[in-house]
Amino acid sequence: MIEINNLTKVYQTKKKSVTGVKDVSLSIARGDIFGIIGYSGAGKSSLLRCINVLERPTSGSVSVDGTEMTGLKGEELRKQRLKIG
Ligand SMILES: Nc1ncnc2c1ncn2[C@@H]1O[C@H](COP(=O)(O)OP(=O)(O)OP(=O)(O)O)[C@@H](O)[C@H]1O
Ligand SMILES: [Mg+2]
Repeated sequence: MIEINNLTKVYQTKKKSVTGVKDVSLSIARGDIFGIIGYSGAGKSSLLRCINVLERPTSGSVSVDGTEMTGLKGEELRKQRLKIG
């Protein structure tokens, strides 16, 4: 089960801030197959990277099989990532 609540990712560059993902909430049950569709720059890769915290969300939460991904760091985070394909 993947549960995403009010996920927002804002990138800070030297000159400006860019919102890559804006307030996304969704729930994907075990066995469900989801596609993420959108124009280039819509935020598909950003959303995926926030699920395994390759990018840390600016706000909101992501849990995978009941584990709050945004609450993990270091070794714990690496172990959890190994379970995510
Ligand atoms: N590291 C970054 N620094 C600043 N802005 C970024 C960064 N990564 C992504 N962005 C911006 O965030 C927005 C979403 O980008 P993202 O790469 O997630 O889109 P995408 O849907 O995967 O696009 P594509 O179909 O081209 O792969 C875009 O405006 C992009 O320019
Ligand atoms: Mg992409």
